[in-house]
Amino acid sequence: MSARTSEILEAIRARRSIGKMRDEAPPRETIERIVEAATWAPFHKCDEPWHFVIIAGEARARLGEIAASTLDLSAAPPDAREKVRAKERGRFARAPVVVAVIAHAAQSPVDAEENYASAAAATQNMLLAAHAEGCAGYWRTGRLAREPAILEALEVGEGERIVGFVSLGFPALEPKAAARQPVGAKTRWLTR
Ligand SMILES: Cc1cc2nc3c(=O)[nH]c(=O)nc-3n(C[C@H](O)[C@H](O)[C@H](O)COP(=O)(O)O)c2cc1C
Repeated sequence: MSARTSEILEAIRARRSIGKMRDEAPPRETIERIVEAATWAPFHKCDEPWHFVIIAGEARARLGEIAASTLDLSAAPPDAREKVRAKERGRFARAPVVVAVIAHAAQSPVDAEENYASAAAATQNMLLAAHAEGCAGYWRTGRLAREPAILEALEVGEGERIVGFVSLGFPALEPKAAARQPVGAKTRWLTR
């Protein structure tokens, strides 16, 4: 195996989701390189079926307010509600930058699915580029990726979908080592 191959494969293996980030934002050019890497993902039929909304600065608190105000707390004990709401308010402020990855609409359900898959590949490119830049990255979905008020604030169009919110920043901790099952446990060769 060449040194280059080994380096690329090692980078893929070593990337980890790191949620705890320092307050200091990476330089804008770093963020732009990370997002640019996303655009080199493969796609099918629809040209580059994605776009990105980069949430930074005060926009994080504004979106956090929307997150908190749309929370359904009816099942939570009344005395716990404010704490839960405050946590939700801070959702976007856990990282200096959060990139919303948006998959484009398509003419058919099959094409829409392919667009979603393409945008997921773009998201992984972004995580790998963040890792290469020495940044922390964290892909999240959850309620907020489907919350109508958040979709409206991000101007997500009809038929478009948020594939993920990618938090970016400098890591505040060393990630724990991870493991994966041996590939043989996930592989079947079909040779005839
Ligand atoms: C489609 C998708 C959605 C995810 N959503 C969340 C999420 O909402 N909250 C969360 O804590 N992690 C989320 N993750 C991150 C995973 O928890 C994480 O990738 C997984 O634990 C494997 O860890 P690793 O990325 O370090 O290999 C998501 C990952 C993917 C691929």
